[in-house]
Amino acid sequence: MKIAVIGTGYVGLVTGTCLSETGNNVICVDINEAKVKKMQAGEVPIYEPGLDVLFHRNIAQGRLTFTTDLAHAVKDAQIIFMALPTPPGGDGAADLSYILGAAKDISKLVTNYKVIVNKSTVPVGTADKVQAVFAENTDVEIDVVSNPEFLREGVAVEDFMKPDRVVIGTRSEKAQKLMNELYGPYVRQGNPILFMDERSSELTKYAANSFLATKITFMNEVANLCEIVNADVDAVRKGIGSDARIGKRFLFPGIGYGGSCFPKDVQALAKSADEHNYDFQILRSVMQVNEKQKTLLVDKLLKYYKGDLKGKHFALWGLAFKPETDDIREAPSLYIIDELLKHGATVAAFDPEGMNNVKALVGDKIKYAETQYDALIGADALLIATEWSVFRNPDFERMEETLSNKVIFDGRNLYDLQKMIDLGYYYNSVGRKL
Ligand code: UGA
Repeated sequence: MKIAVIGTGYVGLVTGTCLSETGNNVICVDINEAKVKKMQAGEVPIYEPGLDVLFHRNIAQGRLTFTTDLAHAVKDAQIIFMALPTPPGGDGAADLSYILGAAKDISKLVTNYKVIVNKSTVPVGTADKVQAVFAENTDVEIDVVSNPEFLREGVAVEDFMKPDRVVIGTRSEKAQKLMNELYGPYVRQGNPILFMDERSSELTKYAANSFLATKITFMNEVANLCEIVNADVDAVRKGIGSDARIGKRFLFPGIGYGGSCFPKDVQALAKSADEHNYDFQILRSVMQVNEKQKTLLVDKLLKYYKGDLKGKHFALWGLAFKPETDDIREAPSLYIIDELLKHGATVAAFDPEGMNNVKALVGDKIKYAETQYDALIGADALLIATEWSVFRNPDFERMEETLSNKVIFDGRNLYDLQKMIDLGYYYNSVGRKL
């Protein structure tokens, strides 16, 4: 099939690349000329495991191309994906200006039937708004489909190639048929393509992310309680996760959810409910609890150092909001750095992929270490903010040589409690005994 993907951000690029992998001809459009030039020259603009192989293979086969020319891309495409940003507006509601703007531009270019697919995370009713934009500008028949993405950063290629489910929101049989054909190769194991109306599909995306954010937040609160009542959250997690109705996944407590999706989507769903005069109380609590959880490590430090962090120097392992990504959006590390600096402490950080992004944001307010061990030199304590695999089994003897004190505050529960006792560390993690 001939596909156009508008927007080569994270979602657009993964979508375009993975769609070309099953033999479709995909043309990706972006207004950023410099970025398009780089991609044409074979440069992958984001770090995402496995993407580069597919990217280069499909470019080499001529199935994946890049352009700034929207008209050229729209001309032959049977299906046009819109993968554009929906940032939170001033009031927390998703800003639809990119989507509606692109819809307007496309509507002036179409000359035959097309399926317009919305991949971005959008409030209920957006498909209707996009349809209205087309109706205003053209008589050509089009169908607007809602097709939310459920990709996780770091495993996005795998998630796209083997999705748990594909959600397609459209009542048009013609569009359903095309989308079924397009996604068939991705659900060969029998995972479902779920057809539903546009509004249900739009809400599915927000409900999924908000449910997961709620699940994590619930566990964060259980962990906080564990610390007070002297219980072990690992045991509780396993105890409840073995119940198939609860499930083992997404029960790991930590220092709050971050990233470009959960914070934005929880806020947008609460706002959207608000606009329909429905008070989505649980989401308000989720947001409040998560705000507090992001500075949990600093609260613990303040307690440990009796309220005085002035002149203290901390090593920080992990900057990205989660492992296997360089994405630092809404990363707990940024909140930790901010608080530590406010309290007059200094920070030396290490992250396998996220350092350049933090440098661009925070500059030389903190130090950036060459290796995870260099970050420890002269540090009063080590703080762990991201569960990168390289932090899971470090050389503790080497750490002892450089750390000023054997003190670790771990926001991701990486180490075995007994092991840390045996090694003689003061080890403070989340929801586990000291
Ligand atoms: C999330 C969803 O998992 C995807 O399905 C969705 O497509 C995506 O948002 C999106 O809307 O684009 P992502 O933000 O990449 O994906 O990251 P997750 O792996 O879901 O992690 C989100 C946050 O939850 C991270 O800060 C992570 O540290 C935290 N988390 C996750 C926990 O604190 N505990 C857990 O058990 C799991």
